[in-house]
Amino acid sequence: MALLVNSDRFKSDFDALAQIGATGDGGVNRPALSEAHLAARRWFLARAAEAGLETRLDSASNHSAILRSPHPEARTLLLGSHTDSVPNGGRFDGALGVIAALEALRTVKDAGMALPFHLEAIDFTDEEGTLVGLLGSRAITGGLSQEALKSPRGGRAALAAGLARAGLAEAGLLAARRDPQSIAGYLELHIEQGPRLVQSAVAIGVVTGIVGIRSFRLAYHGKANHAGTTPMEARSDASLGASAFVLTAREMVMRDYSGCVVNVGQMAFKPGAFNIIPGLAELALEFRAPDAPQLADLEKALLGLAQVVGRQYRLKLSVEPLDTCVPAPMSARAQAAITAAADSLALTHTALPSGAGHDAQSLAPFTDAGMIFIPSQDGVSHSPREFSEWEACMNGANVLLRAALKMCEADGR
Ligand code: GLV
Ligand code: MN
Ligand code: MN
Repeated sequence: MALLVNSDRFKSDFDALAQIGATGDGGVNRPALSEAHLAARRWFLARAAEAGLETRLDSASNHSAILRSPHPEARTLLLGSHTDSVPNGGRFDGALGVIAALEALRTVKDAGMALPFHLEAIDFTDEEGTLVGLLGSRAITGGLSQEALKSPRGGRAALAAGLARAGLAEAGLLAARRDPQSIAGYLELHIEQGPRLVQSAVAIGVVTGIVGIRSFRLAYHGKANHAGTTPMEARSDASLGASAFVLTAREMVMRDYSGCVVNVGQMAFKPGAFNIIPGLAELALEFRAPDAPQLADLEKALLGLAQVVGRQYRLKLSVEPLDTCVPAPMSARAQAAITAAADSLALTHTALPSGAGHDAQSLAPFTDAGMIFIPSQDGVSHSPREFSEWEACMNGANVLLRAALKMCEADGR
């Protein structure tokens, strides 16, 4: 059956979700487990219930809508993404994939189709890492460790506050694991967040793999002192180590690590006054590489560089390792289903890797996981300026729907 999603219903839900936590500039502010995020998730479950779908909330606070197969023993094909955003983020990142998944279930339900798999539209908890990162998706695969919860990217206090707001227990996060035998695959629709599809005027990206991401908190320790009276050559200025590290790390990655990236997204000088030489500089360091060996090499090089720079400016360096999101190839079966779905809609497509992290990378070691990208205007994301044409969103939702049906054909029981 040549099924298509309902454009009006899909758009009206997409727009309604974008109002929750709206920042007034086209973006949303829905950090994981914030009040706005919790409201968005309540809204999602209510929409699913209105559509006559079963709803489910697990102990890691993943929110799901379920359309049952007539076969009670059937496995579950997951379709999803996330409704949390980065601080002052865009309205497409994550939200598009969740609403498209919900719309795919409603379309199959309306058509009265009996599928060999249960379909589950899932909104994973804390994809963005304002608390931990890929929290809900790792929880269901058993890939979430106690270690990751001990030193989360957002800090322990923020994690504890978020869990309390959502009425969650840390033990529950680790207990949300599902049986891989019960899962038939995972498909995620997402905006590309980069410029390749727009630049090449291609409608659909078939994702081949997702980058690995590693993060650290670095601190340079110098000596706070009077900014007016301490001779320039006698200073132990922590800001110099931090600044030199940012600049030389950039040069090193551009020169020696093609395909990799480095970012220092936060830098704080303490005590932090016009007239005090900074005694402490704290840096939030994140770097990404397409595969595990390159990620390990890059880690060694960046931490080595941080030491060298510290010595150069007579500073002590402390290093706190945070979490790792492992690089993940997407499944050949899922890529084939997405390609066939795009072909069935006469949409142009290309294979491409993802430089952004996604829940699909947690699912990849656990089940056949695949991702569909649509063009992002100007390649902008993690910004209120994030935008994709509605036609592109519709293309993506229809590819998601049809790829789900292809997965059913390819491996029905
Ligand atoms: C998530 O969007 C990430 O790539 O950090
Ligand atoms: Mn995302
Ligand atoms: Mn994101």
